[in-house]
Parts: sequence; C-alpha cells; structure tokens
Amino acid sequence: MTTHDLKASPVPMILDGDPGHDDAIAWVLAEASRRTDKICDIRAITTVGGNVSLDKTTYNALRICTLLGIKDIPIAKGAEHPLTADLMNAPSVHGESGLDGPALPEPEVTLEDKSAVQLMTEVLKGSEEPVTIVSTGPLTNTAALLLSHPELKEKIGQISLMGGGIGFGNWTPAAEFNILVDPEAADFVFRSGIPIIMSGLDVTERALMYPEDFEEIKKIGNPVSDIVWQWLEFFYKFHCELGYAGAPMHDPCAVMVLLHPEIFTIKDYYVEIETGGEYCRGATIGDVRNVKNMKPNARCVLDLDREQFAKYLIDAVKVYS
Ligand code: RIB
Ligand code: CA
Repeated sequence: MTTHDLKASPVPMILDGDPGHDDAIAWVLAEASRRTDKICDIRAITTVGGNVSLDKTTYNALRICTLLGIKDIPIAKGAEHPLTADLMNAPSVHGESGLDGPALPEPEVTLEDKSAVQLMTEVLKGSEEPVTIVSTGPLTNTAALLLSHPELKEKIGQISLMGGGIGFGNWTPAAEFNILVDPEAADFVFRSGIPIIMSGLDVTERALMYPEDFEEIKKIGNPVSDIVWQWLEFFYKFHCELGYAGAPMHDPCAVMVLLHPEIFTIKDYYVEIETGGEYCRGATIGDVRNVKNMKPNARCVLDLDREQFAKYLIDAVKVYS
C-alpha cells in the first residue's frame, strides 16, 4: 500500500479548522494520540470561517475541546473571511450550527486574547523543532501567517491538509470546498515551498465509515463515543442522499496520515491552484504525467486501507473510556 518514506514520529502540531463534524472527529483522533502514543503533540488550536461563520466554528471548537477534556491547549480565533474572496459557507452539510446533531456541553474553556496568527506565531517561535500545521478548513490562517511572518516559514515543518482533489471537486465539478473558499490562500501555501501532505477527495471519499462502524462506536459507551457515533450518523445522512455508501472522513485523513502513513497510497505531484477561470476556480491541478517537469510540491494521498482506517478511528474513540 505504501509508496513513500513517511514514518510516524512525534509531531508538534497546530490544529487549524472550521468545525464541522469531520474536523471534530479529526480532533478526537489527534487528542487520543496525544494521550497515548504522543505522536500528536498539539501545541495550539485555531479556527477559521468555512463550514459556517467564524463565530460558530469557534464556538464549536470550544465545545469540542470541552467534550474531549482539552483544557491545557491555547485556542484562538482566526480569519473571519478569505484573503480576498467573499466567504461561502456549507450549512447544508453540517447544519446551521456547523455541528448539528447531538447536544454538546457548553464551553468550559476560553479563547486566548489574541488572533490565530498571533498564537501560531508564538507557537512557532517557542518551538525548538519545526511545527506541523494540520489544516482541515480553508487555508486562510496559514496564508495570513506566512504573509505576516515570512521569517517563520522555516519553523513550519510541513502542512498536512485536507483539501483539493486531483481528479475532481465536491463543491463544483472542479473544486473541493476548503480550497474553493480561499483559492488565493491555497495558491500562496502551495507555492510556499513548505512540504505539503494533501489529503484530497481522492482518498477522503474512500475513507468511509459505514453504519456498522457507527454501531461499533456506539457500543463503546464513553462520553465521547456517545457523541461521535451521532456525528457520524448526522454526516452520513447528508452524504447518503448524495449516494455515498458511508460517511466520508475528509478531515480525519489529515491526522491519520501522520499517525499511520503505512495504510495510505501517496504520490508526489506538482500541484497548482486555479485562482481564475469560469468553471475551474479552486481546482487543485496535479501534474500526474509530470508534463511540466516541475519539482513536486505536494505528497498527494490517493488511496487507503479503509478497514484499517476504521479500526484505528474506533480504537481512538475507545481512549476516552
Ligand atoms: O470538502 C470537505 C471539507 O469541507 C472538510 O474539511 C469539511 O469539514 C468541509 O470543511
Ligand atoms: Ca473542515
């Protein structure tokens, strides 16, 4: 299955997302690792507008951290809207709150009195080793960080992002939602030279959790599993109507690939972001045949061992027992 030299090792990281059911499950996975194998060394959590407004994604982030018992990680609010584009949301997918479904605890954690870029800057400056940004929403915060602090680029070891698709889109035929919300930010990040692991729709639409997996999680019976199976069921209901056989675990792929790279198929491609175009704005154009003979700028995750993925995800939820 593997076609790369990625090896799981401790990763100082910043979780940057727009929760969102699948962002939330990605964070469940990362925190479970922080408590066990310590590969995910979470240093900060930052929010961005995307699935729903920034206020809602931030409120959701505080509720998720409360549910997971994450009380010692700084959380900061990020970009309300894309660098230049108008904000577009996806309440049809995640509901008006951005995390519809089971009732969640009110926040018992508070935001830092600083912006996401300020917090990200502090984390990078304070870290002896390079930091990974795990981006599961639009790339606005990461682009803003690079634009305002180019001197810190070397402190970003890699960006593991959910976004794009070499073969297709999901919000338009050409573009995946995270990239389409802020193509200018994505273009800047993909041109930055920072190593990118791109979990695009090619793999995330194969990273399906089926109803029988939800049932297995439901049987775990801890406070987190009681919520996660309902998130999965909610997410599945929307996707089932679109013909999906299960709930696509888009954002968890961006974490799972750092924990278990061996279950993924990854190819290095030169990827460009379309920022113009009438039909293709937001597309991630992967040079699969290397016709441009450019040095690859992204490790594109294309396939996975789904059964193993599901097992690791279920095992992660058991950590909260
Ligand atoms: O296209 C899938 C992505 O868009 C995921 O990150 C999901 O949370 C939404 O933000
Ligand atoms: Ca997301």
